[in-house]
Amino acid sequence: MNTKRLHVITHGCQMNVYDSGRMADVLAPIGYAPVASPDGADMVILNTCHIRDRAAEKVFSELGRLRLLQAQRALDGGRMVLAVAGCVAQAEGAEILRRAPYVDLVLGPQSYHRLPEMVARATRAVGAVVETDFAVEEKFDTLPAQTGPQGVTAFLTVQEGCDKFCSFCVVPYTRGAESSRPASAVLAEAERLVSLGAREVTLLGQNVNAWHGEGADGFAGLVRRLATIPGLLRLRYTTSHPRDMDDALIRAHAEVPALMPFLHLPVQSGSDRMLAAMNRRHTAAGYVAIIDRLRAARPDIALSSDFIVGHPGETEVDFEATLELIQRVGFAQSFSFKYSPRPGTPAAAAPAQVDEATKDRRLQTLQALLREQQGAFNARTAGLDVPVLFTGPGRRPGQMSGRTPWLQPVHADATGNLTGTVAMVKIVAATPTSLTGMLHPDAQERACA
Ligand code: 5AD
Ligand code: SF4
Repeated sequence: MNTKRLHVITHGCQMNVYDSGRMADVLAPIGYAPVASPDGADMVILNTCHIRDRAAEKVFSELGRLRLLQAQRALDGGRMVLAVAGCVAQAEGAEILRRAPYVDLVLGPQSYHRLPEMVARATRAVGAVVETDFAVEEKFDTLPAQTGPQGVTAFLTVQEGCDKFCSFCVVPYTRGAESSRPASAVLAEAERLVSLGAREVTLLGQNVNAWHGEGADGFAGLVRRLATIPGLLRLRYTTSHPRDMDDALIRAHAEVPALMPFLHLPVQSGSDRMLAAMNRRHTAAGYVAIIDRLRAARPDIALSSDFIVGHPGETEVDFEATLELIQRVGFAQSFSFKYSPRPGTPAAAAPAQVDEATKDRRLQTLQALLREQQGAFNARTAGLDVPVLFTGPGRRPGQMSGRTPWLQPVHADATGNLTGTVAMVKIVAATPTSLTGMLHPDAQERACA
């Protein structure tokens, strides 16, 4: 079989990165191998994100550029199949084919297992193909095992979709209702990842801690079972919702050593009025209470969050409340965004939209505070001995890079190949975004993190 060249362009979240890998996996048996450039490719998949900004417009301008490469390929006597996947595909569907008729395939996140059949249909030139139905169980049942090159750190999707319907968010519309993979499938995939060299697995889901699959007692039960896999040194999970941070999961943070002391727990706003308008179904005090319980369970836990400024109706008083919550909690890192109306979501139709200049100003103020906290958090690590999971060569010769339990990147002077092992590193310098350190002469401890 002639190898066909596949180029996948990925935008957005880690779930999309995972899905892109699985799309490459599903196409491998029919002869597609990944290449680094779209130039001269036989198939290009644009895996899109719809969460913020002018997502659809960006997709159309990127498609415009790919169209030129597709035309060049045709002039060279070849054929480039152009596919649009991900959440813009799900949201825009047939509109994509109307505006970009040279696109061959449009497929939503629940249709990736059907790719080979869709490619076959498209290459038989029976017209463009659109697949945006929801059938998550089927997707997971039918996708082949992960085969792609795996690093020391791997991602594993355990749950997809969301039923929470925050006022601003497209996810419940593009990724559909919550659905969890059975524990047996998750465990089998984790074991396979470890056999391919993974030492850290990050469990993925839009609402990962809402996992309620068969075969384990809730998400905490799943985490406990995964932690028994030999060779799996570190476990993480993202993204969580405060509503699903139950006692069992907080207890797991105290009792499961492989569960890393870092949690991304989006709060979005510190104002109860805004949280209600956002349909978040928690209050600022409720969020802080969860953080206090997590810190009681695992005193060194570091927190990260998502924030939105300028949600419809947000006043200066609401914004101040967000700054107060940030001061109260202290975050190790965070993501923050200007509210961006998503068509079809309730907030997009709300009357009290906030003007752009106000959003800009609030975002800058918020980000300055978050940057300060991140810098202070990293600075506190200087001088400490910390266990680092090494992932590969470092910035300079004689250095290796890795991550602390708190997800900070570390460059450490180290001889020998430590990739895939955990070793103690003395942190000698900290910048707001990374750490540098020195390996302890004989401090390698492979079996714990
Ligand atoms: N506008 C701005 N930010 C958004 N997010 C989700 N939807 C929007 C939107 N319409 C942010 C939230 C979420 C993160 C993944 O993206 O903070 O947690
Ligand atoms: Fe979107 Fe997260 Fe809210 Fe679900 S919980 S609607 S994914 S922001």
